[in-house]
Amino acid sequence: MKNKITLQQMKETDDKITMITAYDYPTAKLAEQAGIDMILVGDSLGMVVLGYDSTIQVTVEDMIHHGKAVTRGASDTFVVVDMPFMSYHISLEDSMRNAKEIFQQTNAQAIKIEGASPEILQFITKLTDAGIPVVAHIGLTPQSVNVLGGFRVQGKDQASIDKLIKDAKALEASGAIGIVLECIPKEVAQLITSQLTIPTIGIGAGINCDGQVIVSHDILKYGVDRLPKFVRSYQNFNEVIPQAIGQYIAEVKQGAFPNASESYVLSPELRTALNLEDA
Ligand code: KIV
Repeated sequence: MKNKITLQQMKETDDKITMITAYDYPTAKLAEQAGIDMILVGDSLGMVVLGYDSTIQVTVEDMIHHGKAVTRGASDTFVVVDMPFMSYHISLEDSMRNAKEIFQQTNAQAIKIEGASPEILQFITKLTDAGIPVVAHIGLTPQSVNVLGGFRVQGKDQASIDKLIKDAKALEASGAIGIVLECIPKEVAQLITSQLTIPTIGIGAGINCDGQVIVSHDILKYGVDRLPKFVRSYQNFNEVIPQAIGQYIAEVKQGAFPNASESYVLSPELRTALNLEDA
């Protein structure tokens, strides 16, 4: 299993870090089987699995429930679980309690939190001191979508570029083991990546990050209709799954499923005793 040190070594040797989201046991198991470096139990859970229109309704209990399923499925992979909306903003004590519950109950290797305010930096230092590794997340931070004015590319003017660089350095100094950079111009991601010793993991942040993270439902086209510009899909479950279920429906209706080899049968002696004819 990867750890803080091996992830940092991957940055140093330019070995790209691969990360994908998973929210359940089978996806986690198959991602591990495919050889993924890291799994993120993202609060994108709210949109792609629970059908909400943002991540804001996701709760600590939701993250624990899905995080536990993922770590059971991928026990040999570095798993990061998101802290959901407002679970780390009320007070430091409340935030520490929520982080402890998520980390301890899911058995994950790290937690992820969005932002770089002074309170977040203090929280990261306290978590790190307590032995909870933290992956940070800046750029487009979906939990703040209402403050940011929608799902928009960030870091498009000098002031916000300067702020992203300053935030990234402060997050590293606070103890973060890596930083997710979401939806920023690739040149800005490159500037940040070159100025940090910890790895950057990009989503919609171009090729020059130390790794990439993607939402599994997006690359599989699994129940999602609109895909962001930065997604490349490698499968189309939106076609494959209805085709398979449609074939099942048709065969049940036609009496073609189940057939003899898909059925349990009585012994010949019992059939005779029960006066049953041959099927
Ligand atoms: O929740 C999530 O899936 C994420 C990724 C988009 C990085 O935070």
